[in-house]
Amino acid sequence: MSQYNEYSTEQIRSMDKAHVWHHLTPGAAAEKGMPLFVKGEGLDLWDIEGNQYLDASAGGVWVTNVGYGRKEIVNAISEQLMQLNYFAGSMASKPAAVFADRLIDKMPGMQRVFYASSGSEANEKAFKMVRQISHKEYGGKKHKILYRERDYHGTTIGALSATGQLQRRDQFGPFVPGFIEFPHCFEYRSQFGATEDYGLKAAQLMEDVILREGPDTVGGVIIEPITAGGGVILPPEGYLKAVEQICKKYDILLIVDEVVCGLGRTGKWFGYQHYDIQPDIVTMAKGVASGYAAISCTVTTEAVYKRLQEDSADDKMGFFRDISTYGGCMAGPAAAAANMTILEEENLLENCATLGKTLLDGLKTLQAKYPIIGDVRGIGLLCGIELIKDPDTKEPVDESVAIQVVNACKQAGLLIGRTNRSFDEYNNIVNMSPALCITEAQLERVLDILGEVFASLPEPK
Ligand SMILES: Cc1ncc(COP(=O)(O)O)c(C=O)c1O
Repeated sequence: MSQYNEYSTEQIRSMDKAHVWHHLTPGAAAEKGMPLFVKGEGLDLWDIEGNQYLDASAGGVWVTNVGYGRKEIVNAISEQLMQLNYFAGSMASKPAAVFADRLIDKMPGMQRVFYASSGSEANEKAFKMVRQISHKEYGGKKHKILYRERDYHGTTIGALSATGQLQRRDQFGPFVPGFIEFPHCFEYRSQFGATEDYGLKAAQLMEDVILREGPDTVGGVIIEPITAGGGVILPPEGYLKAVEQICKKYDILLIVDEVVCGLGRTGKWFGYQHYDIQPDIVTMAKGVASGYAAISCTVTTEAVYKRLQEDSADDKMGFFRDISTYGGCMAGPAAAAANMTILEEENLLENCATLGKTLLDGLKTLQAKYPIIGDVRGIGLLCGIELIKDPDTKEPVDESVAIQVVNACKQAGLLIGRTNRSFDEYNNIVNMSPALCITEAQLERVLDILGEVFASLPEPK
């Protein structure tokens, strides 16, 4: 018997309106009422009134990589919690050991897994590692952390200090000192106009910032392998390899934020693995357990781990003195291991790569028909459409147009995402990131509905 059976739909709606503070949503919008989902299966969702939706957003924010209603994960969590739900991560546990071993198997060159419970937190751990290494080895001087314009790294003040999205940061300052922005690598809006070696030039922009700040002051660089919320921006040719080389040259730790791209979203286990680079630290959350439990991982090389392990009479402070209470919650790694089994047994990385290409091709067909679609970008099942007023100027449409597209899709039973109050002028991108178990028929429906929505839009002014 469900603990919610005693409540009517009206009561639930009214309790929600009275007491729940919805994420990223102003009160007036929430007041109008929004879908209140009660059930999910695969990519299908049902709201409390019984309306059905096809979810091409993986839970709104790129989370449910293996889809809804996965009994195997629920059972794995339930079995683990009946045995033992929790002990602090300072002790060992079966699920933490087993998932770490399986994860590291997918990440050549990486060795150690630090558990916590959110993407922001995973990045905070990485920042603390850089800072502690700076104190231990460089007298605190090599403490600066560089982040890239348009990337997002989380909601905590530290992670927001490392976020290159003006509207996401606005009104939350002052920020943490020592976080420095470098320019984006977004070829569609190239800083150099059309140029053949854009990737190398964009990487040079990062090196320029390192040289300006002083390489002996920079300890870390954080990047998303593919910028997700900032507009689905793929690194241009040669860019990430050059970034890796520049970091090596100046003894700077390369942190790759795989919170969105990790665990199959791009058709490989990790986004960075498309680009032949070896990070020092990799962070991940969302798809690690597809939203069945809250878990994040900060994964490091053995070299980084070793730099933070001293414990002697001379140096009592030399190891990584960090803990997150919920990094010890055993539901997380239990769910993550079952999630990984599904990805493997159902060949979902392959499905993601194949159907991701179909999705991208379908979106490009729409682009050829509708001039409002300025650019279509994607890799695997992470795709974005940039909406513009005029193909010559590439002037972005107002955020309200992206909202209109998302709402029209919702009206037609399809859920997609968008850049949400992230930039002053570039909230003009809608995105698709269905669960990796999407079928061809479902993909066709996504494209059909998008086609109908674009056909119904007025000509851009
Ligand atoms: C690339 C990236 N990093 C970090 C985060 C923060 O993760 P969380 O919301 O779990 O703290 C997000 C969230 O959307 C993200 O997209």
